Amino acid sequence: VVAAFRPKVLAGRKVVLTAGPTFEAIDPVRGITNSSSGKMGYALARACRQAGAEVVLVSGPVALAAPLGVQRVGVHSALQMRAAVFDALPGADVFIGVAAVADYRPAQAAEHKIKKSGDVLQLSLTPNPDILAEVAALPQAPFCVGFAAESRDLDAYATGKRTAKRLPLLVGNLVQDGLGGDDNEVVLYDDNGRHALGRAAKGELAARIVDHLAALLERRGP
Ligand code: CTP
Ligand code: CA
Repeated sequence: VVAAFRPKVLAGRKVVLTAGPTFEAIDPVRGITNSSSGKMGYALARACRQAGAEVVLVSGPVALAAPLGVQRVGVHSALQMRAAVFDALPGADVFIGVAAVADYRPAQAAEHKIKKSGDVLQLSLTPNPDILAEVAALPQAPFCVGFAAESRDLDAYATGKRTAKRLPLLVGNLVQDGLGGDDNEVVLYDDNGRHALGRAAKGELAARIVDHLAALLERRGP
């Protein structure tokens, strides 16, 4: 169905999403990051908007334009992403964590460019907060959707993450199937089990995820 004619299944809802990688500074010119094109998160933000939602997209550094009608907040680090998410959260009905958030950041970013020497360089890394788990644990938590990109054992890891973070819906994919490309193959996990969505363009998958999420949201009530 042409996007403009899709039913407005998220009319009146506010959706906050994260997308892209985070970038954790080592010094003013270097950092560590994750592989993420942002394409799936941006496609989902667009699909939510086309379904009638008010959409805030908190995005790490990616080479993509904000979808029409979507409020984009640009961030670099996981700590910035977390702060922007909590700023956007009041009034949100749905939170979708699509970002590939760095699990660790350098314990201390050097103020000045680190000069090379012939020696081994040790970096000390400290854990980043888990943004999705924190949002899902809020007393008045919005409907939370997680993503899991795995390189093997998708069903086991995806189900484990959904349970650990107490998420009503988790979208799983194998990195071999989707990373960086324009299409993907995903599986949805919810209280009713496993729903394979098959292989399709990220925009089409996003529309199917939105339909599934809207149906669950409807069942849960306003
Ligand atoms: N996530 C998050 N904040 C983090 C880490 C992950 O919000 N610090 C979110 C991601 O956006 C995704 C989900 O949690 O929706 C799962 O992320 P993933 O990296 O697959 O899982 P982790 O729990 O970090 O476990 P691991 O990396 O060890 O597989
Ligand atoms: Ca992780």
